[in-house]
Amino acid sequence: MEAKRDGFASKFGVIAAAAGSAIGLGNIWRFPYVAGENGGSAFILVYLGFVILIGVPVMLSEFMIGRRSQRNPIGAFKRLQPGSKWYLTGVMGVVVAFMILAFYSTIAGWTLHYLYLSVVNAFAGLDEKGLQTLFNNFHTSTMMPLFWQAVFMAMTAFVVIAGVEKGIEKYTKILMPILFIIIVILDIRALTLDGASKGLEFLFYPDFSKITSATILEALGQAFFSLSIGMGVLITYGSYIQKDNDLVNVAVEVSFFDTLIAVLAGVAIFPAVFAFNIAPSAGPGLVFLTIPAIFQAMPGGYFFAILFFFLLFVAALTSSISVLEVVVAYMVEEKNMDRKKASIISTILISILGVLATLSFGVLSDFKIFSKTVFDLLDYASANIMLPLGGLLIVIFVGWVMPLPSVVKEVSSGKKRKKIFKVYYFIIRYIAPVAIGLIFLNGLDVL
Ligand code: PFF
Repeated sequence: MEAKRDGFASKFGVIAAAAGSAIGLGNIWRFPYVAGENGGSAFILVYLGFVILIGVPVMLSEFMIGRRSQRNPIGAFKRLQPGSKWYLTGVMGVVVAFMILAFYSTIAGWTLHYLYLSVVNAFAGLDEKGLQTLFNNFHTSTMMPLFWQAVFMAMTAFVVIAGVEKGIEKYTKILMPILFIIIVILDIRALTLDGASKGLEFLFYPDFSKITSATILEALGQAFFSLSIGMGVLITYGSYIQKDNDLVNVAVEVSFFDTLIAVLAGVAIFPAVFAFNIAPSAGPGLVFLTIPAIFQAMPGGYFFAILFFFLLFVAALTSSISVLEVVVAYMVEEKNMDRKKASIISTILISILGVLATLSFGVLSDFKIFSKTVFDLLDYASANIMLPLGGLLIVIFVGWVMPLPSVVKEVSSGKKRKKIFKVYYFIIRYIAPVAIGLIFLNGLDVL
């Protein structure tokens, strides 16, 4: 007899935890700058299309694999398709977890530093140039970014050791709604800045001439990254979802909130980009330049800056926990390791790679592999290559390998779901694999 598995207590807990994973730096830090580098609105439209057409079905498929198997990603494929090579999809997920957390913790560390800067009121009186200098001096240096990265990784490990579900479920339920309120307040301030309309135009007035195959791959990669799909995080979380929770609802709601927060973050940032003359294509520093600038122009800015960076940090933490959980669940379930030991070992290994990612803005900025810095390579390879590849394998598995009755049962969750099932199954079997495959080969310049 197996011991009863841990699990989420309520449906709201499931949504909070899965949305906690999905909503993170990908929405508030990555989405605006990737959209900015890819021309704005037309990119966003393509992105939205991918979320609906591919993101939701892949998310649902991951939940399904997890709930059906009651296992971590590697164990899940071993259990559902014993003796086959499918478990390698799970292995890839664990590898990607390493890659993502390594560079994610760099930016999460920046967030902690900016939280500290906002507490000591370091933005006071700085204009755009001053903010730019502050950011440049910090993120290209060695000790401070590494220090904050280490602090962040330690906190991630701490929560995972303590057992994610109870702690994380509890905190995300309170903190995610607060994050939402803060973003709305920022939006209101941003929209009343001089020049706001230019920012909105950039976001919402599509110029299709800016769409290239590389842009389309970026949009697909961003959708996967933002929704936390393609590597097994949601297989792991799916294994903690109760049998009577409706997976279709969960997937739709989580994707909806994730997208809403990304768009609201864009609305907060782009008016400020134009009002303060920051280049929309400023790259990873975008949020660290614009947000302090908005707070400067706002009564009570001091407190809002603290609140914002604190919540950005929380959003990052609830996401990174979900990534670490994949590695730890694997070590605990497949290697019979103790949870604490597994958490510590994986955190140390990930941090070693993380140091290289962090230093690639400073002393290692000339160290390039495939003409990319370590940070850019980890980011590009995981979001644009490995997550879509993982997603492709997952839809093929559910669409073509998993027995039909199991799929029907998981989609229906006790309800009659004939129409939704038909649409879902059609997408999973035909549309998603073909679309992901084509976009992928095209974006990599293979076609
Ligand atoms: N979805 C998270 C974000 O948008 O910040 C990041 C992330 C978490 C990516 C988990 C991938 C993942 F598996």
